[in-house]
Amino acid sequence: MNLKDKYIEFFIGKGHKQIPSAPLVPENDPSVLFNTAGMQPLIPYLMGQPHPYGTRVCDYQKCLRTTDLEEVGDNCHHTFFEQLGNWSLGDYFKKETITWSFEFLTKVLNIPLERLAVTVFGGNNMIPKDEEAIELWKSLGIKEERICPTQEDNFWQVGETGPCGPDTEIFYFSGNDEIPKVFDPEDERWVEIWNDVFMTYNMKEDKTLEELPKKNIDTGMGVERVVAALEGYDDNYMSSLWINSRTKLEEIVGNKYDTNKQSFRIILDHIRAAVFILADNAGIKPSNTDQGYILRRIIRRSIRHAKKLNIDINSSWMEELALVFIDDFKNYYKELEENKEVVLEGLKSERIKFNRTLEKGLKEFEKVSNKDIDGITAFHLFDTYGFPLELTIELAKEKNLNVDIEGYTQKFKEHQELSRNSSQGKFKGGLAGNSEIETKYHTATHLLNAALKEVVDRNIHQRGSNITVERMRFDFNCDHKLTEEEKQKVENLVNKWINEGLEVKVDEMTKQEALDSGAECMFIEKYPDIVTVYSIGNISKELCGGPHVKNTKEIGKFKIIKEEASSSGVRRIKAIIEF
Ligand code: ALA
Repeated sequence: MNLKDKYIEFFIGKGHKQIPSAPLVPENDPSVLFNTAGMQPLIPYLMGQPHPYGTRVCDYQKCLRTTDLEEVGDNCHHTFFEQLGNWSLGDYFKKETITWSFEFLTKVLNIPLERLAVTVFGGNNMIPKDEEAIELWKSLGIKEERICPTQEDNFWQVGETGPCGPDTEIFYFSGNDEIPKVFDPEDERWVEIWNDVFMTYNMKEDKTLEELPKKNIDTGMGVERVVAALEGYDDNYMSSLWINSRTKLEEIVGNKYDTNKQSFRIILDHIRAAVFILADNAGIKPSNTDQGYILRRIIRRSIRHAKKLNIDINSSWMEELALVFIDDFKNYYKELEENKEVVLEGLKSERIKFNRTLEKGLKEFEKVSNKDIDGITAFHLFDTYGFPLELTIELAKEKNLNVDIEGYTQKFKEHQELSRNSSQGKFKGGLAGNSEIETKYHTATHLLNAALKEVVDRNIHQRGSNITVERMRFDFNCDHKLTEEEKQKVENLVNKWINEGLEVKVDEMTKQEALDSGAECMFIEKYPDIVTVYSIGNISKELCGGPHVKNTKEIGKFKIIKEEASSSGVRRIKAIIEF
C-alpha cells in the first residue's frame, strides 16, 4: 500500500471521515490563486462553521505554491504537491494528535525512533512555550536532545489573517550518515515531514490574536518529500513517485536524468502542475492573468527547457508526458481522466502557440542581451514573442544580466489601459452600464443552455462560459457541428422565451435539495453547502451565483454569430444581444 492509502486508512481507523480533495482553485477565496495547504478549503470550518462530515476529517489535497516557482529545478522544490492532512474541528487536541502522529510514523511506516526529532513552539510575549507538547513527546520516548523549541518556525498561519496557532514539526533523519544525538533543525539531513498545528487563534487585521470558538487540529504532510525521505533519497525526483514520468522523459530526451537534472526537474514539476491545473474543474486556460498566467508561465518555461534538452519541441512530447501523469494519478483524482482531452488540448495549443514565436524570440533575446534588459525590451519580448517576464529574467540570469522589472510593469500597465480604453470606447453613446449588460448576457446563457437541450440533445451540459459587454461565449459538450437548422431553431427558441416574459426566480437550498430538484450544475464540488438556484419559468433551473434579470423580456434580441469547435467533443457558440 502506498503512503496516501496508508495514511487515510490509519485516520479512518481513528474515527475520521475522508473528504474529497477540493479543486486547486479556491472557490470562495479570491485572495489566493491556488490552494497552498490542505487546510485552506477548510477555513470556514476551522473558524467554527459545522462541517457536513463531522468533527474528524482527513484527506489528500491538491496544492500549488507559486512562491516556490523559481526554486523549482533544485532537489526538493515543487509548484504542485499533494498534502496529507487530518483535522479535528473542535474535537481532539494536542495529546491525540501527537500520539497518533507518533503511532503512524513508528507503527505504520515503521520509522525507527532514533530517526525522529521534533521542534515545538518556544514561546513569545503573547503565547507561552509549549511545555505540554514537550512532555507529550517525551512520554512517547523522544529524548530531550531531540526536542527543539523555536520561536519563528513553530507558529503556523496561512495568510495575513485567519485561523492559526503554535505547532510541532516532526523531522526525519534521512540518509546513511551516523545519526547525531542532538537534533539541529538547521542540519539539512533532518527533513521536516509533518506539521501538527494547534489551531487556537484567529489572527485579526491588526495582528492581534483572539481565541477561536473551538480549538482545532490541522496537520500537513507533503507527500513528495516524505516518500523521498523514506526511500532514502535526498532528491525528491528520484523517488518512486516519479519513476514513470522520469523514465518517459528520459525516453523522449534520449538521455539520462543525470545529464541535466535541472531541466529534467523543471519539466517534470511544471508539466505535472500544468496537467493538474488544466484538469481542475475550475476550467483554467493559459492566459495573461491570474491562474491562467501561472499556467502559461510553467508551460512556456518547460518548453524552453525542453529546447535545452534538445527535445523536438514540435513533437507531442508534452502530451506524452502528460498521459503518464494522468495514468499515475487518475485513481486518486478522477477529473484527470474525465478532463483528459481538455488537458491534452490545452497543452498542445499552448505548445503550438509558443513554438511559433520561441525561436524568433530567442534570437531577439540574443541580439539585445549584450547589456541589462530594459523595461521596454522585456515588454517587447512579452508582447511580440510571448515571453513571460519571468522567462526573460531566467534567460538574463544565465548571462548574469538584470532586467528592469519596474520598467516592464510600467509598460505593461500602459498597455492594459490602452486596450481597456479601446474596448470601452466602443460602448460610449448611451448604452447601459456594463454590469447591466453582462447580467442580461448571463440570463441569456441559461436560456441558451436550456434551448440546446431542447433542440439538439438532452445530454448537453455547459462546459464553460465567458461574458463580456460585447458578447457571450458558451461551451458545451456535443459530438457534432450544429446544422444551420439546429442553430436557427435554438436561436428562435431563446427569442421565444425572451418574448414570453418569463419570470426569473432565485431560491436558496442545500446542495442535495438542488440536485434532487433536477437543477443543472457545472461543477457541483465547487459550490458551498447552501446554494442559490435560479429558475426561469419552468424551462431552466441552474445552480448559479447570479446576477440575473428579473424577467426575460429585459434581455433584448438574441443572435448566434458563430458556432465552432472549442476542443474535442466540445462546441462553442458565440452570441450577441441586440438591444
Ligand atoms: N497547514 C499546516 C501546513 O501546511 C499543517 O504546514
